[in-house]
Amino acid sequence: MDANPVKGTRDMYPEDMRLRTWLFGHWRKVAEQYGFEEYDAPVLESEALYVRKSGEEVTQQLYNFEDKGERRVALRPEMTPSLARMIMARRNGVTLPVKWFSLPQCWRYERMTRGRRREHYQWNMDIWGVQGVEAEAELLAAVVSFFTNIGITSADVGMKVNSRAALGEIMTSLGVPEAKHAATCVLVDKLEKVPLDALRSDMAALGLTDETVTKLLAVMESKSIDALEAAVGADSAAVRELRRLFELAEAYGYADWLVFDASVVRGLAYYTGIVFEGFDRSGALRAICGGGRYDKLLESFGGEALPACGFGFGDAVIVELLKDRNLLPDTTRGTVEALVSAFSPELQGAATSIAAALRQQGRSVDLVIESRKPKWVFKHADRRGARFVCLVAPQEWAERKVNVKDMVTGDQLAVQRDDLATYIAERI
Ligand code: HAM
Repeated sequence: MDANPVKGTRDMYPEDMRLRTWLFGHWRKVAEQYGFEEYDAPVLESEALYVRKSGEEVTQQLYNFEDKGERRVALRPEMTPSLARMIMARRNGVTLPVKWFSLPQCWRYERMTRGRRREHYQWNMDIWGVQGVEAEAELLAAVVSFFTNIGITSADVGMKVNSRAALGEIMTSLGVPEAKHAATCVLVDKLEKVPLDALRSDMAALGLTDETVTKLLAVMESKSIDALEAAVGADSAAVRELRRLFELAEAYGYADWLVFDASVVRGLAYYTGIVFEGFDRSGALRAICGGGRYDKLLESFGGEALPACGFGFGDAVIVELLKDRNLLPDTTRGTVEALVSAFSPELQGAATSIAAALRQQGRSVDLVIESRKPKWVFKHADRRGARFVCLVAPQEWAERKVNVKDMVTGDQLAVQRDDLATYIAERI
């Protein structure tokens, strides 16, 4: 039996879980500070949820199979379709705007690189029912709050912002039918990774003329919103939205994080308006997070139109970034506050009653349940990162006292059993 997890997946040993809990804690805290509510959905979904015919990578990377009831199912590669399904099921029961967040595990059969795995956890925040870019501004504010809270500055990371609607306006002016806009965006998104020559036949198959491709590429090279405006025209709604978003970023105080980048399109077909991605300014890492507006997704599921936008933020690249910047938290200490041990087997009952009393007071206690020498107990307390060792020894116990050692200060004292909880609480 191979003891390794399936390629591309990770085991979470306690030290890994400590880091994950720390990260999830920060994500939850920010989401709650912004007034978002947590939701979840099954990892296993109906495959039909991901059948989109725009040539996206994500749909080609599905973990899909037939279950024993001959249903086509898939492990979710992302959360947004599940969220759309949930909103559709409760269309008249949800109060708009919906502001929900989740921390799903997602599965994609990817080629593995630094920060790309076959399963990852992804912080999602989404707003449904808001048409204006105030929604995008709020989402970007949340992302920036998270970075700031974990010690990352705008010198380390920036948020590239663009609008697919601007590309949409160009395509419409060049006569590309709206039904082909999504697939075109998916193709031009690949241009950063795949040379143009390799994509030419796909572009031709989509009916894109050389002129269209040339024009789109020229627009994607715009170096500023002014340059974009010059390319798409002065009355562009997409440009107005972009400008408004940058104004709002000033009002929030995070404008230094935003960078207009006309080449950002994002690879998912359903985005229709503003798109954004978090990037490492040193250029060493892949996109840290990504999101955008997807006003047509519910309609594509057969539901009523409802504006929506959101982002996904993976747990892999951010950890690489924290490693590079020496910002990883100290996860060597566990959550145990006190280790309780009997000096000899006949005192096990006494030690048990001490542990039970401390636990009742809300303390986190590791009770030594096998016969161990004090030397082992102290070493173990060190390994577990326990702050106190409470040793129940015969002489002191005769006076209903427990020997307590503070592992940080080194203080040692025989404490009356009834005072023990207070003694610990005052020092923690
Ligand atoms: P996405 O751009 O496919 O968007 O992924 C969002 C983020 O998830 C990426 O920027 C990255 O942090 C992380 N991620 C994606 N794939 C992997 C992988 N194989 N390994 C590690 N991390 C990964 C979405 O999934 C959209 N559903 C996000 C969204 C929510 N848009 C609107 N609402």
